[in-house]
Amino acid sequence: MKILITGGAGFTGSNIAIKLKQHLESAEITVLDNLYRKGSEMTLPRLEKHGIKFIKGDVRNPDDLASAGKTDFMIECSAEPSVLSGADGDCSYLIETNLTGALNCAEYCRRNQAGMIFISTSRVYPIKYLCECRIKESAKRFDFSENQELPGVSPEGISEKFPMDSARSLYGGTKYAAEIMLDEYRNSFKLPFIINRCGVLAGPWQFGKTDQGIAAFWIASHIFKKPLKYIGFGGHGKQVRDMLHIDDLFKLVMMQIKEPAKYSDGVFNAGGGLKGSVSLQELTEICGEISGNRLSPGSDPVTRYADIPVYITDSSKLKAHSGWSPGKSVKDIIADIHDWIQECPEAQAFFK
Ligand SMILES: NC(=O)c1ccc[n+]([C@@H]2O[C@H](COP(=O)([O-])OP(=O)(O)OC[C@H]3O[C@@H](n4cnc5c(N)ncnc54)[C@H](O)[C@@H]3O)[C@@H](O)[C@H]2O)c1
Repeated sequence: MKILITGGAGFTGSNIAIKLKQHLESAEITVLDNLYRKGSEMTLPRLEKHGIKFIKGDVRNPDDLASAGKTDFMIECSAEPSVLSGADGDCSYLIETNLTGALNCAEYCRRNQAGMIFISTSRVYPIKYLCECRIKESAKRFDFSENQELPGVSPEGISEKFPMDSARSLYGGTKYAAEIMLDEYRNSFKLPFIINRCGVLAGPWQFGKTDQGIAAFWIASHIFKKPLKYIGFGGHGKQVRDMLHIDDLFKLVMMQIKEPAKYSDGVFNAGGGLKGSVSLQELTEICGEISGNRLSPGSDPVTRYADIPVYITDSSKLKAHSGWSPGKSVKDIIADIHDWIQECPEAQAFFK
């Protein structure tokens, strides 16, 4: 089996590439990446060590994809993944990579009669509706309340039944538009395309920064005693996200590669869920405990573009469909990232 991973030098792609090689030894795994993300170049020796072929290429260019040769299956992980991207007015890279690039990937798969897993995002859910959900505020966090007016929201999180007819950020818009076109491709050409809408993904080899990769950014700031700030929603650090360990996403990817047809209808939410959710205040406590460095973040009450108070993934559809559920807790995630930073000189140079 030949598997092509686009964006495969990034956090998600490189971890999946290596784990796939470990589990499917005879598979030929190729990674294509333009190394746009700072830090992705550091994964190249690791990929090489595991016998993974690297192509420096760009999903915006169909010829680069064609240079990968024939493929049986693609995992599409390339993206400009920051929700803040494009907000300064220049959306060209975002649209050309996340939307046109995904379409080029779909076309490449059609030509190869290949299946695809598309790593989509919870950010496809509209901001207006997420902000209209009823929220319960406690000392350390926000949560979704029991009684909701909107469909697809409960204390367990946001399900695939959530309304979609409103704006979702430029980033979320590119991913949602790509989802729509991938759905058209799979229906028109009977291709096994799978769409996973992921909440926050986290784990070792994530070169986190202020606007993307919060788990790695937060624990690294603790290790190196760098200042942190709670931004938005009053500046108290009560905003909540769920986190999914990359190993748990990999478990899902393996199940889907083995039986693609089973998953190539509709979309699936995949995330850490209520058990794997954490507020920034709670994250600060966990990072303090694991690193041994207690920090007191500053506060900026002003809410940023596209920010939301709570997002928790309700993955019950996927669980009922496949039995998949995440196994690793937020503490496991932070401990794993902590150990990676302590052991990896490249990570230390990046975060210091
Ligand atoms: N990290 C998360 O929390 C999260 C959550 C939900 C969904 N996702 C999705 O998961 C996927 C992977 O995200 P990630 O967190 O690994 O990000 P990442 O930035 O670590 O990886 C993306 C990779 O794509 C590459 N890339 C960017 N533009 C490219 C282009 N034009 N051509 C080829 N390669 C290009 C980058 O160099 C990078 O290596 C993305 O599609 C993202 O939307 C991520």
